Amino acid sequence: MWEYLKKNIGYVERSPANATRKRVVRHRPSSARLQAVLSIRLPMNLIKSRKRVTDHGEVFTPAWLVEAMLDTVKGETERIDSRFLESACGSGNFLVPALKRKLAAVELKYEKSDFEKQHFALLAVMCMYGIEILPDNIAECRANMLDVLADYLDLSETDDLYRAAYYVLSQNLVHGDALTMRASDNQTITFAEWGYLGKGKFQRRDFRFDILTQMSAFSAEDSLFAHLGKHEIFTPHKTYPSMTVRELACAAPGEAPEEAV
Ligand SMILES: C[S@@+](CC[C@H](N)C(=O)[O-])C[C@H]1O[C@@H](n2cnc3c(N)ncnc32)[C@H](O)[C@@H]1O
Repeated sequence: MWEYLKKNIGYVERSPANATRKRVVRHRPSSARLQAVLSIRLPMNLIKSRKRVTDHGEVFTPAWLVEAMLDTVKGETERIDSRFLESACGSGNFLVPALKRKLAAVELKYEKSDFEKQHFALLAVMCMYGIEILPDNIAECRANMLDVLADYLDLSETDDLYRAAYYVLSQNLVHGDALTMRASDNQTITFAEWGYLGKGKFQRRDFRFDILTQMSAFSAEDSLFAHLGKHEIFTPHKTYPSMTVRELACAAPGEAPEEAV
């Protein structure tokens, strides 16, 4: 791939013989284009093993391409409560930079209040979703996301906010199969819709993934159900009482908080 890029896009090279700069430019690239080319890692960094490529199509997206793709929905990446689902999330090559963009938005908006900054940063995490079939990848993805939040807020592992985010990520980043829409325990995948109510309280409603994926079909203009409000068809699978960061922190992974009656 590297050889191909050098040949077809052009680059600047130092001559190893005399150490003077020698230009080998076939088509002069724009600086943005050159930067994109130079930031490409060798393909070996984009795969873990040939077997995994064959079995699971595991080829990671290079950072420059992720950024370019996120730029196509720039406004959404900079909106704290926009929701992203990566249905083959790997170790988070898309989710991690998208979260970083959201946290930059949190910083711009709430830099003056630690309370708001912390709660909106957690909300940003709450809006990121993923599914991944390989257990090591989903574990890495959760850890990478948590690291980003911890770095941003300077959290330690014993902080409530850290543990709350750990819990949220254990719910939002699902170890499962996006095609069958089943988690690794064979249960139907459900996603938590989180919302921030203000004053330190969060709400949660769970929806089934298979039903959510039908939403666009139901909303189509010529659908029999187009006249119905989405709320009439898509009722939550579960609704929970509002929760604080402390309550989220106390919810052990795998043990969902009490369901609302
Ligand atoms: C092409 S890689 C992309 C990873 C990441 N999104 C990226 O762009 O770097 C595809 C990922 O999907 C996972 N995968 C393959 N089949 C899957 C399935 N049915 N459900 C969920 N994940 C799957 C693979 O394990 C792999 O991590």
